[in-house]
Amino acid sequence: MKLPESYYNRTSYIGTIIAAISLLLMLFVFIIATFFMAGGNYIGLLLYMVLPGLLVSGLLLIPIGMFFRRRRISSGEEIISHRVVIDLNNYKHRNAALVFGVGTLIFLILTSIGSYEAFHYTESNQFCGTLCHQVMDPEYVTYQTSAHARVKCVECHVGPGADFYAKSKLSGLYQVYAVLFNKYPRPIPTPISSLRPARETCEQCHWPEKFYPNRIRNERHYLADSANTQWDIIYRMKIGSSHSSQGISEGIHWHINSKVKIEYIESTSDREIIPWVKYINLESGDTLIYQNTEEPLDEETIMASTPRTMDCIDCHNRPSHKYLAPQDYIDHAIAKGEISSDLPEIKTIAMQVLGEHFTSLDTALMNIKAKVNEFYNENYPELVEAKQELINHSIEGISSAFSHNEFPEMGANWDKYPNHIGHMEYNGCFRCHDNMHVADNGKTISRDCNLCHTILQQGTKDNMMAVAFSDSLEFKHPVDIDEAWKEYACTECHRQLFW
Ligand code: HEC
Ligand code: HEC
Ligand code: HEC
Ligand code: HEC
Ligand code: HEC
Ligand code: HEC
Repeated sequence: MKLPESYYNRTSYIGTIIAAISLLLMLFVFIIATFFMAGGNYIGLLLYMVLPGLLVSGLLLIPIGMFFRRRRISSGEEIISHRVVIDLNNYKHRNAALVFGVGTLIFLILTSIGSYEAFHYTESNQFCGTLCHQVMDPEYVTYQTSAHARVKCVECHVGPGADFYAKSKLSGLYQVYAVLFNKYPRPIPTPISSLRPARETCEQCHWPEKFYPNRIRNERHYLADSANTQWDIIYRMKIGSSHSSQGISEGIHWHINSKVKIEYIESTSDREIIPWVKYINLESGDTLIYQNTEEPLDEETIMASTPRTMDCIDCHNRPSHKYLAPQDYIDHAIAKGEISSDLPEIKTIAMQVLGEHFTSLDTALMNIKAKVNEFYNENYPELVEAKQELINHSIEGISSAFSHNEFPEMGANWDKYPNHIGHMEYNGCFRCHDNMHVADNGKTISRDCNLCHTILQQGTKDNMMAVAFSDSLEFKHPVDIDEAWKEYACTECHRQLFW
């Protein structure tokens, strides 16, 4: 079987060999992946991206080689009999046409299957979350324990439509480069400037006007005293109105009411400080501008800024990657029984160890183990023998809680990724609701403790205060700090590690 004269050159041979080998490899890898379920995370990358790329470059080499050979022939450097004529009566031409035709057909079929599979593969959590294992580890780990563990990464980060798909893959190319050459920032910056508006992602699943009734929350804390005293706070979150018929005409979700628009200007790129807020009533057209009286923005900065319209992400910025602060994840682990509250001062010592800065997970885990053991050996030698198992169990609990919430290699933890819901470790709601944002008519954005929630029960197991559902207790700070919680932002103390 003979092919056109111009095919017989080195470049085209090499091209053919590359193409044939990659095709065979693809077949081989495909069989392994499909029938033997082997290959791990990287097989998709190989099968749908690397090998097809090789195949295409091999195939491209064939006409390139042919082109140069033909040029050499026509310039007289090489002597050859005829110019390009396709004569199907000639068996050589017939064979070549047949090979080319069938080859193209197979190639087209394979590429369409391949690109369909490649599309699916690049949309998978495996691709987004585990391919660059270390880089995405913090987001992937926190995602798996979130309410959205069954929502694909791309449903929030890309959303529907071809344009955003293309955009995300283009920026993905840069990310591949950044990872290969170790040029990516740690931690990964947030907020994501190119994040698609919540309207086009969250609202695919969550109908914004949907009424969520009040939600009861139970927060369980353990104080840093010798008994690790349990302190519960049970409170009612006023997400919507008191009755469903009134929808979100009041309550927390009032901000996303279709009749309301709230705009703001931030003075730091992480949106942690918000000195300027504009409320627009879309029905009546009334507007009200609240400015922080302590640190107002000057007129020029305001004119030069484009205000951001508040949406879901301005409160729910951690729907899927929530990094808890040590005091919270330790409380959770104690409540879960993974750390034993029977060990005296376990909360205190855990907080002291976790207040240090670690550069790697390994050093963190080593430190946790060494420090906790050292603490009990020194202070409770009589307890060490009797309760060694409990101590070991608790060290494991602290280690596990740490590794699910702090990622030293990537510099990712609660301190770097603020959560805008609440006001304990981050200013969150108090970025605006601090009684210091005042409008011209004297109205302020309220910090009234009963505006967003009412406390139904609070206290220790033996001394629990409680009121009826429609009432509210005045907040009692678990340790005596006098009236400081009324005067200062909670973050003034709660961001520091005072243990
Ligand atoms: C429920 C929606 C949702 C899902 C599902 C989701 N994310 Fe996110 N992701 C967000 C939001 C919202 C942010 C923060 C946006 C902001 O503040 O600008 C974010 C931030 C990030 C960041 C930036 C760093 C950070 O923590 O702020 C990375 C990286 C990331 N996500 C990766 C992933 C990966 C990988 C997956 C799948 C394993 C995933 N995300 C799934 C909504 C989601
Ligand atoms: C593909 C559908 C989908 C998308 C997109 C989506 N969510 Fe969700 N979300 C869900 C489902 C389903 C649940 C309920 C999970 C459960 O309670 O088991 C949920 C739960 C929630 C909750 C309650 C969380 C909790 O702790 O109970 C919040 C808040 C939320 N979503 C916000 C968001 C935000 C903000 C976005 C956009 C960044 C978003 N969602 C995007 C499907 C989605
Ligand atoms: C002003 C801040 C704010 C905005 C804006 C906001 N939410 Fe919420 N949302 C909250 C708070 C606070 C809660 C109660 C949280 C809790 O108890 O953990 C909540 C609760 C929820 C819940 C859980 C309800 C339940 O009963 O479990 C969902 C789902 C939700 N929001 C979705 C959204 C979506 C979607 C958007 C955008 C269309 C949005 N939220 C905008 C503050 C906000
Ligand atoms: C960007 C600024 C801003 C942020 C951040 C913000 N709010 Fe507001 N909020 C406002 C403004 C402005 C009003 C209207 C104040 C007024 O005129 O009474 C308001 C009103 C409210 C109201 C009363 C609504 C009604 O009329 O019943 C509640 C409840 C509320 N906010 C809860 C929250 C919660 C919870 C958070 C944090 C998750 C939060 N807000 C974050 C600006 C903000
Ligand atoms: C603008 C709304 C808003 C106002 C005003 C507000 N809170 Fe909260 N508060 C929240 C939200 C939202 C959460 C839930 C945080 C979360 O989901 O983790 C919360 C949680 C809490 C908790 C439970 C925290 C925990 O981890 O146990 C306490 C206690 C609390 N608030 C006390 C107060 C006190 C005291 C005041 C008055 C000085 C106040 N709040 C004013 C929105 C508000
Ligand atoms: C003057 C400093 C200070 C201020 C301001 C402050 N706290 Fe505290 N808070 C503390 C100290 C100290 C503890 C004891 C920590 C421990 O024993 O673990 C504590 C503990 C708590 C606890 C028990 C949970 C835990 O982490 O141990 C809650 C809940 C709490 N504070 C809520 C608040 C709220 C809500 C505000 C703001 C309205 C606030 N605090 C303001 C100093 C402060």
